[in-house]
Amino acid sequence: MSVGIDDISFYSSSLYIPLAELATRYGVDPDKYRVGLGQEEMAIPAVDEDIVTMGASAAWPMIDDDNRDSVGTLLFATETGIDQSKSAGVYVHRLLGLGPNCRVVELKQACYSATAAIQMACALVARQPEKSVLVIASDIARYGLGTPGEATQGCGAVALLIKANPRLVEVHPESGCYSEDVMDFWRPNYMDTALVDGKYSTIIYLKALRQSWKHYQQAGGRAFSDFSRFCYHLPFAKMGEKAHRKLAVTCGESMSDELFAEQTGSGLIYNRKIGNSYSASLYIGLLSMLENDPEDLSGRHIGLFSYGSGCVGEFFAVTVQPGYRVYSRRQAHVDRLESRQALSYDEYALLFEYQYPRVDGEHDFPEMTDGRFRLAGLHDHKRIYTETGVR
Ligand code: CAA
Repeated sequence: MSVGIDDISFYSSSLYIPLAELATRYGVDPDKYRVGLGQEEMAIPAVDEDIVTMGASAAWPMIDDDNRDSVGTLLFATETGIDQSKSAGVYVHRLLGLGPNCRVVELKQACYSATAAIQMACALVARQPEKSVLVIASDIARYGLGTPGEATQGCGAVALLIKANPRLVEVHPESGCYSEDVMDFWRPNYMDTALVDGKYSTIIYLKALRQSWKHYQQAGGRAFSDFSRFCYHLPFAKMGEKAHRKLAVTCGESMSDELFAEQTGSGLIYNRKIGNSYSASLYIGLLSMLENDPEDLSGRHIGLFSYGSGCVGEFFAVTVQPGYRVYSRRQAHVDRLESRQALSYDEYALLFEYQYPRVDGEHDFPEMTDGRFRLAGLHDHKRIYTETGVR
C-alpha cells in the first residue's frame, strides 16, 4: 500500500499589490523585486480574512458528502496563530461540517509545520488505511511597512488530503531532518509583525538544506540525479533558485540553465503572485508544479525541501502517480489568481494598518472578502465565523 497526497487545493486573498507599485512608492528599481527576489505580486488579506477563513476556503472544494466522514484527523499548520489555546482547526472542522469523531490539532514550527503534519498524517494513514487525514497550512506573512522584508509578505492556504493509494503523489518514507536553535526569524506573542535577521536567515536556510540532504542520504534517500524536479520552501522565488544551485553544487552536479529551469521553474509560478505564505508555500509550490509543468510527470520523483526558521529543515521525496492530471483543479486556481483586484500603495497601506481590537466588545468587521467564509466579528472574546454564500 502506498500513502501520499490524494488531492490538493489552495486559496489566497482576492486582493494583491503589484510589486512594481511598491517599488515606485519607495523609489526602488522594480527589478530588485522582480529579478532580485523573483516576485511579481503580493497577496494582501482582506480585513475579514484570517487563517481560519483561508484554510476552510482552501479545503472546501475537496470535501463533500462522499468523503467527509472518512476524514479521521484534521492537522492545522500555521505560524499566524489566533488563539493561545484553541486550535484554528476546530473552527475549520465546523465550517467544513466534518464528523464529531474527527481528531483536530494545530501544529507550529514556523514555515516547517505543514511538513511535520504530512509526515504524521502518512503514519496515521498507514495505521488506519480506511481513514484520510486533512492537512491544512494557512498563514499571513507580515513584516511591516518600510522594512527589508516588506516585499516578501503575502498570504495563502493550502489543503492536502492524505490517503492510502493516493491519486496525486506517493510520499516516500525516507527523509532527512536538521534542527538548530537559532534566531533568524521569530514573532513574540506581543507582536503582529515578524522579527527577522534577513541575510542571516538566508544563510541558515541554505545550511539547513545541506544538512537535511546529508541526513537524507544517510537515511537511504535517492541520489540527486534520480529526481526530475525539486520544490523548495519559497519565502520568495529567488530563494528556491538559490537553494537549488546550492544543492546541485553540494552534490557535485553542474547543469545548464535550461535544465535548471526545467527542474524548478513550474513550481515557482503561483508563489511569484502570492508572495510568502509561510507554512503553505512549499505545497503551493508543489501544486504549481503539478498543475503547470509542461511535461507529464507521471512516475517521476520530486525532491522537496521544507524550512522553518528557528530552525527545522527536512528533505524528502514524492513520486507522481500515473494519471494525476485528471484530478487537477488548475482552472479554479488560475481563475482565482486572475480575478484578483490590484491595490494601489495607499489602499494597501490602509489595509495593513487596520487595527484589530485588543479589548473585548461587540466588534463587527467590514465585509470585504469574496471567499466562502469570513471573520464577521469579535464578540465576548469569541471569533465569529460565517459563510458568505459565495460558491
Ligand atoms: N536588479 C536586479 N537585482 C537586484 C537589483 C536590481 N536593480 N537590486 C538588488 N538586486 C538583488 C540583490 O543583488 C539581491 O540578490 P542576491 O541575494 O542574489 O545578492 C536581491 O536583489 C535582494 O537585494 P538585497 O539583498 O539588497 O535585499 P534586502 O537586503 O533589502 O532584502 C531580504 C532581502 C533580506 C531577503 C529581505 O527581503 C528579508 O528580510 N526577507 C524576509 C526574510 C526571508 O524571507 N528570509 C528567507 C530565509 S528564512 C525563511 O525562508 C523562512 C521564512 O519564510 C521567513
